Amino acid sequence: MNRRTFIKGAIALAATAWANPMIVIDAAENIKWWQRKPVYQIYPKSFLDTTGKGTGDLRGVISKLDYIKSLGAGAIWLTPIYPSPMVDNGYDISDYTAINPLFGTLDDFDELVAEAKARDIRIVMDLVFNHSSDQHPWFLESKASRDNPKADWYIWRDEKTNWRSIFGGSAWQWCEERRQYYLHTFATQQPDLNWENPAVRRALYDAANFWLDRGVGGFRIDAIVYIKKPALFVDGKPDSDGTCSVHNMTAALPGILDFLHEFKREVCDGHDIFTVGEANSVKPEDLPYWVGEHGVFDMLFEFSHVNVMFPHGEVWHRAELYKLSDFKQALTDSQRATRDTWYPIYFENHDKPRSVNNFFPAGTDRILAAKAMAMILLTLRGTPFIYQGEELGLSNVAFDSIDAYDDVSSRGQYDMARADGLSDKQALRFVHRFSRDNARTPMQWDSSSNAGFTSGKPWLPVHDDFKTCNAAVEEHDANSVLNFYRRLSAFRNASDVLLSGDYEELYHDSEELYIFTRRLGDKKLCTAVNFTTHDVKLPAGFKVGKKLFGNYRDEKNYLRATEGIICEL
Ligand code: GLC
Repeated sequence: MNRRTFIKGAIALAATAWANPMIVIDAAENIKWWQRKPVYQIYPKSFLDTTGKGTGDLRGVISKLDYIKSLGAGAIWLTPIYPSPMVDNGYDISDYTAINPLFGTLDDFDELVAEAKARDIRIVMDLVFNHSSDQHPWFLESKASRDNPKADWYIWRDEKTNWRSIFGGSAWQWCEERRQYYLHTFATQQPDLNWENPAVRRALYDAANFWLDRGVGGFRIDAIVYIKKPALFVDGKPDSDGTCSVHNMTAALPGILDFLHEFKREVCDGHDIFTVGEANSVKPEDLPYWVGEHGVFDMLFEFSHVNVMFPHGEVWHRAELYKLSDFKQALTDSQRATRDTWYPIYFENHDKPRSVNNFFPAGTDRILAAKAMAMILLTLRGTPFIYQGEELGLSNVAFDSIDAYDDVSSRGQYDMARADGLSDKQALRFVHRFSRDNARTPMQWDSSSNAGFTSGKPWLPVHDDFKTCNAAVEEHDANSVLNFYRRLSAFRNASDVLLSGDYEELYHDSEELYIFTRRLGDKKLCTAVNFTTHDVKLPAGFKVGKKLFGNYRDEKNYLRATEGIICEL
């Protein structure tokens, strides 16, 4: 039985059991391996350095597999580990079928796959197929002339448009050799591949199959909404600076799904793997075209719940405080749209700020906030994605000057914000709040120098709270965020209600509380979180049942600052 039929069957069964509580069902029994356990995301450069060079490596990941297993994870998504000039920390790939020596060797990789498998964990690779590095041999050949075999492997034009790249500056770069411009949706050093060319698509599918042959458990597919370009390259409606974001002109254009169905046929079909696409701009209502048996991926990272911070478009015009009801609506829409399919739940990744800063007012207690988000992450319907350090409650950093930031996107956005009239202080404040480096500071393992991340000089400074906030300290504290994650993850993985129960949001209009239930047959669980820093009364008529998890020890008939509970109703 395929997944869709199965899940539909499970839902029908659940409905029958609801009508007749005597029917005992175990809908969770047939859930796929990648639905059953969380995925742990690793940013290898910042995870653990075993050689003293200041950057993490694959042997560091191997040495922490038991730690990852202790979180109940069934897969590890590694951000790109391929050879790369590292302009965008690996998202600029110069060889799709090798390992960057910075991270180790193919032997290390094979060992990682095998050691992980021995712990029932699969390794998931990041496919960056919208663009390559400008140092990839394909691009070097393509740019050499207008009539070489790879001449149209990239997007070349005689004229440029007013499009602005996602990292800032024109999306077109002049190439003297060809006397033409090439398109780059992201950094100048990340030229976009031409998916209209079947030879390009074949080469990319072959690369993915290379990793399947090495036993990987799936793929996260990067920036996939941009692979289809418009038939005509024309100027877009200009913003105040006279440019127009490339995103507005190229994201999720008609025809993209044809390419992706081909990818599914040529790479995924027939393998026991999962795929999760990264798709900024796909709306929850479009999810059925993208995921599930009739879509192309098993899951899709859409951005609606994290984009609530940017109601005014550009990131530096962010909302001081986002509206909780917008956040809840986005999650509820996604949960509804994936009722018959599956959803990847995430609040953090290598591109986002730390959630204890992102979703709570300044001054919120870090530990309460981290546990509150864990309760949502691990009780929504779908596969939870835990980003390295999220399980420790790591928080944002605030470097003194823009020069201290490595992130190519933060630097570009800082420049754009300055050009848009923000002072240095204002632009830096926005960088502190939103920089991707917030999530990329070294993992905090223990209280020794550099948090035990490296014996050398870390490539990015370690957060200065590392002496008190690290895995070793949390290991020995029964009430730590880490141990809370472990208990909650074990609970989630064994709970048929959390694995396959229906989702329902309650009290939507509250701008203070997020309350939802999960129900399967006659079993019902409820998660409630107070997003404010003050006491909030529970809504009239709402009865807290038996408390199973919470970030305060005792119980009250209201929710205290940042209090979260999971209860049985
Ligand atoms: C995705 C990645 C991000 C990268 C970009 C370009 O959004 O998550 O880190 O910079 O694509 O590849």
